[in-house]
Amino acid sequence: MAAAGGYALDAGAREGWFADVAELEAELRRFGPAGEVLELAAGTGIWTRRLAEHADRVTAVDASPEVLARNREKVGPGAVDHVVADVFEWEPPRAFDVCFFSFWLSHVPEARLAGFWDLVGRALGPGGRVFLIDNARTGDPRHTVGRSGEVMRRRLSDGREFEIVKRFWAPAELEAEAAAFGWRLRAGETANGNFLFASGDRG
Ligand SMILES: C[S@@+](CC[C@H](N)C(=O)[O-])C[C@H]1O[C@@H](n2cnc3c(N)ncnc32)[C@H](O)[C@@H]1O
Repeated sequence: MAAAGGYALDAGAREGWFADVAELEAELRRFGPAGEVLELAAGTGIWTRRLAEHADRVTAVDASPEVLARNREKVGPGAVDHVVADVFEWEPPRAFDVCFFSFWLSHVPEARLAGFWDLVGRALGPGGRVFLIDNARTGDPRHTVGRSGEVMRRRLSDGREFEIVKRFWAPAELEAEAAAFGWRLRAGETANGNFLFASGDRG
């Protein structure tokens, strides 16, 4: 068994997982995250390094200095500015061409969604675009969604369990929810059903 995304996977699931990651990479290439790119909740840099291949400059924001230190190691010196900040407190210093966030929107509690989409709007200049990636709703029994529909019990491979905010959308639901905040997104799922991706702009 191999691990992907923190879970042990059998060989078939693993193959599907990595095929879906390749599909996400192709979607991102097709989207073309060029110019000044803002990455929110950038994490350890899995996607930052992909963004840096297309962008003139990436600004990678994350609340954790430790995580951003790993991100810096992964992407190397050069085209990425690392900013330690809480995205709910941070103000964009200038207008960006693209705002990217992966495996982040699903962790934003419903009560903070309007404020978050507002931030994305303030961060983008005219014609600015969004690209997001997240987990698809798979019906995986480990994704136990609580009564609120946004709390999930997650078991790590070392056996520890946590309750986290995690929301899962079908593509049409994500498009409808974003539209309610003024965004025109086109969403899709990867072929093996692991991931959700969406891109668009202010409608
Ligand atoms: C699930 S990870 C996703 C990381 C990365 N985008 C990826 O795809 O690998 C969520 C990230 O959000 C960061 N984070 C959590 N709360 C945050 C906040 N309020 N502001 C900024 N970053 C935050 C964490 O430090 C973590 O790196």
